[in-house]
Amino acid sequence: MFRSLMASENDLDRTNKLVLPRWEETNGIISFWGQFGWTVRVNNPEAVRTIMYKTDIFPKTSIFDDLKYKGLLTKFLGERNMVSTNAHEWRKRRKIANPAFHRSMPVKTFSVLTSRMFEQIEKADGPVDVQNLLQRFTLDAIGLIGFGFEFNATTNPDGDWVKAYNDVADNIGDFKYLFFPILDTALLGLFPERKKKHESLDRLDELMNQVIQKKKSEIAKGGSNVDDNEKDLLTLMLEAGQGDDEKEALTPEELRNEVMLFFLAGHDTTSNAMNAVLYFLAVNPDIQAKARQEVLDVLGDEPSDVWPTLEQFKQFPYLSKVMKEAIRLAPPISRLVEREVAKDTELAGIFIAKGTSIMIDVLSLHYNPKLWKDPTKFDPERFSEGGELESMPSTYAYLPFGGGARQCIGMNFSMAEQRVALSSILRKYELSLPEDSIHKDGIVFDCVTMTFATKKMMINFTRRY
Ligand code: HEM
Repeated sequence: MFRSLMASENDLDRTNKLVLPRWEETNGIISFWGQFGWTVRVNNPEAVRTIMYKTDIFPKTSIFDDLKYKGLLTKFLGERNMVSTNAHEWRKRRKIANPAFHRSMPVKTFSVLTSRMFEQIEKADGPVDVQNLLQRFTLDAIGLIGFGFEFNATTNPDGDWVKAYNDVADNIGDFKYLFFPILDTALLGLFPERKKKHESLDRLDELMNQVIQKKKSEIAKGGSNVDDNEKDLLTLMLEAGQGDDEKEALTPEELRNEVMLFFLAGHDTTSNAMNAVLYFLAVNPDIQAKARQEVLDVLGDEPSDVWPTLEQFKQFPYLSKVMKEAIRLAPPISRLVEREVAKDTELAGIFIAKGTSIMIDVLSLHYNPKLWKDPTKFDPERFSEGGELESMPSTYAYLPFGGGARQCIGMNFSMAEQRVALSSILRKYELSLPEDSIHKDGIVFDCVTMTFATKKMMINFTRRY
């Protein structure tokens, strides 16, 4: 494992070399030496289910509290947020954010952003670097829908705020600074690049505080006339803390931390997911044709842009299966946040001592030949009614969004964003891989710290009208 980490192998190489060959012998529970010492890696679906449901025995790790790490990552996300807290601290945050995510379904905003993406595709001379374009698209989406802020990254990647955000977010989880927090704090002066990130974060923080204050005063004056489903999440969360619920409201600092978390949790994840869908569509022309036909049946085949309505965008069941299968093979989060066992317990018949660090290994679940038929094959039908996933002994073999009470709060939001953009792309363009693609013999993944991503992805977009 150590050799693999030092050689910067990606998570899938590690899964195939070190984890899956030992799956049966270990019953999917295997100890390994990881970033923070010994960890138990779990990829047994029944054991995963237990962990997801017994959150009192398997709370999220307090490793960052113990490390007293106060570097850039903590500064960005705040010391407490929805991903890292447990019990009542977590419940308070989730309770305010849940209704906001339920009410928000901004299909009009997604359509406007997709049209900007089309402008960029039209401007490209030859294949498009979709990873880069999708990262700009999803940054605009989370900026507008997270807190009503226009980054305009799709149209202007060199904009001031786009640069400031990318400055902070790129490589924020660099191992060096997590392992040796002092480099990110007391010795920061020795690392000018890192120091620049801290300065950009201070600017972003100032911006965020201004936006929160402005929104608060707008709401105090009666709010706006925007439809609830098109309102941004910050406004919806501020509104949720009004009137009778005032004592439940989040403080400005807590709100700021949650919105920052939405950025980190919802930006690269969604762009990586869409990047994978475009790749699998490009290399599977029959699946692409079937998904396109479904879209044309709903939106028609007039030679002009047509955007799905709130009702229509739900009517793409086959496209949804394609999206689900893409994130089985390319899950943007390949390992869940570590859990720390609160008392001596047992998982799949194995004794686990109090204090043990547990990591749920999504890739080893998704690529396991004992759980899936021909796991490396791209087959959206696995997600059909009564299909492979439903007939498995445990659906916890599929975990791109986690599960139980801590399941991803942005899942529907992200799927909606993808469905609007992908359906419109399929209507307008035929997708293919360029001859010289580095992915022509199979998708190639990168070794990055925060999310599981492919190496640079170029795609040909051929206009249909
Ligand atoms: C394809 C896109 C996405 C993927 C694959 C994804 C994946 C995940 C996963 C696996 C978890 C569970 C982590 C764990 O249990 O350790 C999670 C939690 C979370 N996600 Fe997402 N996510 C996506 C999009 C989003 C978006 C768009 C947002 C916000 C706008 C978001 C916000 C969150 C938050 C706040 C949590 C913590 C939930 C809690 O602990 O209660 N995610 N996500």
